[in-house]
Amino acid sequence: MIIAPSLLASNFLDLRAECRMLNESEADWFHLDVMDGRFVPNISYGLPVIEHIRKATKKICDVHLMIEEPGKYAAAFRKAGADILTVHYEACPHLHRNIQQIKDLGMMAGVAINPHTPVQFLQEVLADIDLVLVMSVNPGFGGQKFIPNALNKIKTLREQIDEHGLNVKIEVDGGVDLGNARALYEAGAHALVAGSAVFHAPDPKAIISALKHIDKEN
Ligand code: DX5
Ligand code: ZN
Repeated sequence: MIIAPSLLASNFLDLRAECRMLNESEADWFHLDVMDGRFVPNISYGLPVIEHIRKATKKICDVHLMIEEPGKYAAAFRKAGADILTVHYEACPHLHRNIQQIKDLGMMAGVAINPHTPVQFLQEVLADIDLVLVMSVNPGFGGQKFIPNALNKIKTLREQIDEHGLNVKIEVDGGVDLGNARALYEAGAHALVAGSAVFHAPDPKAIISALKHIDKEN
């Protein structure tokens, strides 16, 4: 299982220590949430913060763009250090073009789908992308309650991916914790994003480790 802690729930006043903790942990990716106050009703952080985080880690920077017109900023996020760039299906009327742009820039291309968006809407681009980000909350805020229907979406998606032998990872984002991680693994998720569950825990590294080895749990 790939573990991608979301720094949205981290202590922004001490990002250096938070990055060090993640570097020492079993976390695989740094999940970086960018919000524009238009596509989602909240504003988080942007390019300068990601540039600094990039310098603080060798791990994969997994950038989740919750913004309109992501094509305008894809090159800037590449320059800031993104390895994976995920755009929202709902924000991209020219999704195929956005995907090609991300790949041409040398990043892995992800597409996120909101809770109301059927996985079938990705059918025509599934072979072109590296990652699907299944939102298990409505994007915009950390600390929300997990929406169980995400499990059905992950199952359907995993069947499609396996059926066609595609190399696409399924990442799930929102309300992920030790209580639902096992079910997410069984449904077919490859990567778990966790914000509050990691950063609000007394021992974040222990939670990361427990999530990482959720497949070995009986
Ligand atoms: C929500 C973000 C998430 C968020 C997850 O819009 O995309 O990555 O940080 O936070 P938790 O794990 O607290 O739900
Ligand atoms: Zn996210």
